[in-house]
Amino acid sequence: MTEQQLVDLLQSMTLEEKIGQLTQLDGSCFSGEGPVTGPEQELGIPKEKFLLAGSILGVTGADKIEQIRRICIEAQPHHIPPIFMADVINGYQTILPIPLALGCTFEEEAAKKTGDIMAREAAADGLDITFAPMVDLVKDARWGRVMESTGESVYLNSRMAAAMVEGIQGESEDFSGHLGACTKHFAAYGAPMAGREYCAVELSERSLREEYLPSYQAAIHAGSAMMMTSFNTLDRIPVTGNEKIMRGILRDEMGFQGVLISDWNAIGELILNHVAEDKKEAARQAVVAGVDIDMMSGCYMSRMEELVREGTVEEGLIDESVLRILKLKNRLGLFERPNRAEKLPEYGVALLSEENRKVAREIAAKTMVLLKNEENFLPLKREEDVALIGPYMEEKGILGAWSFFGDREKSITILEGVRSKNPSAHAKSGCGILNPGQTVYGFKFHETNEMTEEETERSIQEAAEYAAAHKKVVLALGESPLQTGEGGSRADITIPDVQKKLLDAVYAVNQNLAVIVFAGRPLDIRAIKEKAKSILYVWMPGTEGGNAIADILYGDRVPEAKLSMSLPYCVGQCPVCHNEFWTGRHVEDGENITNRFQSKYQDIPNAPLYPFGYGLSYTDFTYSDVELDRAEIHEGEELEAAVVVENTGAVTGKEVVQLYLTDEYASVARPIRELKGYQKICLAPGEKKKVVFKISMDMLCFYDRKMEYRAEPGSFIVRIGTDSVNGKEARFWLRK
Ligand code: NOJ
Repeated sequence: MTEQQLVDLLQSMTLEEKIGQLTQLDGSCFSGEGPVTGPEQELGIPKEKFLLAGSILGVTGADKIEQIRRICIEAQPHHIPPIFMADVINGYQTILPIPLALGCTFEEEAAKKTGDIMAREAAADGLDITFAPMVDLVKDARWGRVMESTGESVYLNSRMAAAMVEGIQGESEDFSGHLGACTKHFAAYGAPMAGREYCAVELSERSLREEYLPSYQAAIHAGSAMMMTSFNTLDRIPVTGNEKIMRGILRDEMGFQGVLISDWNAIGELILNHVAEDKKEAARQAVVAGVDIDMMSGCYMSRMEELVREGTVEEGLIDESVLRILKLKNRLGLFERPNRAEKLPEYGVALLSEENRKVAREIAAKTMVLLKNEENFLPLKREEDVALIGPYMEEKGILGAWSFFGDREKSITILEGVRSKNPSAHAKSGCGILNPGQTVYGFKFHETNEMTEEETERSIQEAAEYAAAHKKVVLALGESPLQTGEGGSRADITIPDVQKKLLDAVYAVNQNLAVIVFAGRPLDIRAIKEKAKSILYVWMPGTEGGNAIADILYGDRVPEAKLSMSLPYCVGQCPVCHNEFWTGRHVEDGENITNRFQSKYQDIPNAPLYPFGYGLSYTDFTYSDVELDRAEIHEGEELEAAVVVENTGAVTGKEVVQLYLTDEYASVARPIRELKGYQKICLAPGEKKKVVFKISMDMLCFYDRKMEYRAEPGSFIVRIGTDSVNGKEARFWLRK
């Protein structure tokens, strides 16, 4: 349709119809089951109005979608097709590693491929839009949703955000064969106080602008079709009802022109936030703030008509939002072809293709961080005598907390992966993932935690005997996916106690031990670090996880991942990140320990257990000194910083060469160091490569005392190295 035709359509619509377009309902409203989070009447919408909804979430399966689509089109006066949206986060049927793991690749191509695969599969099964990527910056490992972000660095996050959007949306203007992306959650949802889910966010405007907004901006530049509001308050105002944030910052400043949707019932929660007394006021605040679609609160559909009729809300505001939605439908091609999937070759056929599995396996291996490898414990030799132990050895639930559409029965366990290399391999679980009898809100995880206390005792004992009878042990431990994701905040970020017991029992009889850690967050793994010779942190690796782990265990792939989030020493340190600020009492660990009055803890170090950017390989890399092409630049100029990296080990490996900058003196406190660039290189043994970074003015800019975004003259330290702590330094000056 032309723009004029869309405007004509809008003008011919009744107010009721228009408000329908602004309403998103859950698939259960159409199946007779009733909405997931409450009785139908809570929505305050008569059932017959459901069919006027402009978009529907959470329905999957081409046939089911088509059925609901037909009913809605039929029922709507102008036969406007609905948009189908769902949470396809790290895969649809082929599940790839969770986003936090993806961040550890430091490779946009991997993010793009992930987006591409998940979108192609979901589009072939009838979906139009995914609620992804989540680009919220995260620093606090207690928060369950850190798993959905690519981590703590604004720079890495922004590059990954853009790549994900590109991958999800594909090359064509109408997202053909792909999905539209709904970037979320605007804004700063990733900084809830104390890491507690849905908690208030208190950020300075400077932090918001410097660290939190750029990844959304990157997604907007990459063309994200939609944006989702966040649940949190920001500066005490719930974002979903905040005009300054939505119209002011998101639309006017950041240039977002797409469709803005609330998070689930976030408009209704304005009442629970105690900023609106009822649904009517909540609807008013949200529409004034510029929220186009109301996801599942019913506030728009139940109260908006009244607001317009009495003149509290101008109909122009409604029209603005409806036009944006119609434009998106038009862009998706829904008016011509309401079922976008119909013509796709994959429509109605199996989606978990061998080709997709292959990519999932490669990407999974790229996300696994080798944290420790004493005595070159890994890789294992095929013929080596190894005991495989732990509740994750034969666990198929390794897809992550947000992969509802993937079938965990289709995933490859570690044992299966190892058996493809060593057919006689066996494994013993030792214990369940959770403690005996432990559930997470009534959910159990797996048969293995059906074991009673006594059975568990026996099983641990057996595992220890098994460990004692072998030369080496590989132990697969970790938190449960149920302990992560939305509603997954934890104040204890260690592995479940039963697994600690297993670790102790095995270690007591065999210290030749490697541990594989499954997690949706940075865990406190001090106990593991103390005991294991080798640690491979595999996050939630997805469908091909077991194969990818086996590839790394046996050296068919060389680890190349680097931490996208610091691994805290313990929970008391959270949030901890690489780019902390100078204080008046800064102290490095180990320094000045006799002085009480320093910025430090009495009982733990300041440094995380493993820093951001950290990760080992099966080979070694050495770095030359940093060479600058000039020691001084002036406003608008750039300089080059270069190092020569050499592979001094015995195998070919990839290294993420990282660039950190420090602004030595500025009008406001600046990060002690901050990631500003990275390049991934591949080197054969003995090979050297010169890696050159351009340092441009935008990399030096920040919000100064007057909140002007600029670089201030003075000295800067460039550090290039293998992680956020180790590197070679040089200094340059920005002159007036
Ligand atoms: C709530 C979550 O916060 C959001 O990320 C998700 O997309 C919606 N529910 C829809 O499932």
